[in-house]
Amino acid sequence: MTLEWQNACKTFTDKKAVDNLSLEVSEGELLVLIGPSGCGKTTSLKMINRLVQPDSGAVFVNGRDVSEVPATELRRHIGYVIQQVGLFPHMSVADNVAAVPRLLKWEKDRIDDRVKELLNLVGLPADEFADAWPSRLSGGEAQRVGVARALAADPPILLMDEPFGAVDPLTREVLQREFLRIQSTLGKTVVFVTHDLDEAIRLGDRIAVMNEGRLAAVAAPGELLLNADPFIRDFTGEDRALRRLARLSVGAAIGEATPITAAGFSGGGESGAPAGSVRTDATLKEALSMMLEAGETSLEAVSPAGRRIGKLTMEDLLESAAGTEAS
Ligand SMILES: Nc1ncnc2c1ncn2[C@@H]1O[C@H](COP(=O)(O)OP(=O)(O)O)[C@@H](O)[C@H]1O
Ligand SMILES: [Mg+2]
Repeated sequence: MTLEWQNACKTFTDKKAVDNLSLEVSEGELLVLIGPSGCGKTTSLKMINRLVQPDSGAVFVNGRDVSEVPATELRRHIGYVIQQVGLFPHMSVADNVAAVPRLLKWEKDRIDDRVKELLNLVGLPADEFADAWPSRLSGGEAQRVGVARALAADPPILLMDEPFGAVDPLTREVLQREFLRIQSTLGKTVVFVTHDLDEAIRLGDRIAVMNEGRLAAVAAPGELLLNADPFIRDFTGEDRALRRLARLSVGAAIGEATPITAAGFSGGGESGAPAGSVRTDATLKEALSMMLEAGETSLEAVSPAGRRIGKLTMEDLLESAAGTEAS
């Protein structure tokens, strides 16, 4: 399903929270909304599931103006994950995940199967977690249940409002990686709100930057980090070249279509490749770090299975950082 804001505006008392937002999200796209606190991200998101009504302009889901779709019908197609999770404390994990399918009056067996499938999908073995109480879960586990619950009725659209904002950085990286894996198989249309630029770069197919209610830029992560607009340059920070490198795989830099995988997210160090070499699924930022550490200007690029693929040179890194190489 597609999404679109068309000249959407929202003013609270005298403050323009969202100022003429026009933006489209295509089917299966993961769009990240980012910007400083109070810039209008949550308000924009809530326009989609009608928790906020625009004063003017409109929001469309699959070409239909949401103001003309009954809220309950609309929300059936939209999973919603928020930072505070909002699990029902008096219900087991399984019952939390089953909440929407029950509302939809699914058969009991179908619900049981679905709950098991989802808990396993989000990395919480059903045997261990189905009967657990929310109060016993760690922050990361609770967020996983939140994601499972949002996915329960298989909605084509997922809205996520700083879903991993309350967990520690290491857990957050694990959750991001798992979410990317889930998204790569499910292909939902996702709007993901964050104020964490690294999270945006890691997850987003495109990143929309908001500033004081307005859309300041929308671009693929690699392009965004090359944007010359003063606000965007300031927002993306001094280390935007390093951030570009963190988004690109070694394989991509030497012309092999290797996506970044778990190894690329491990934060460097243990890449599993022999000395003087780097895995094609590592990030270019990790490769740079290895070159600096080893005092080398090139590394052998090897496949995750250990096969030699080619040579990664400092030149390749410079080109990728400068964006002269396609991202
Ligand atoms: N229900 C509300 N009543 C009054 N002001 C609000 C309400 N919701 C949001 N705002 C204001 O609108 C602006 C944008 O808020 P919000 O969309 O929550 O920003 P963000 O999610 O980017 O931090 C802020 O100034 C906020 O204080
Ligand atoms: Mg918010």
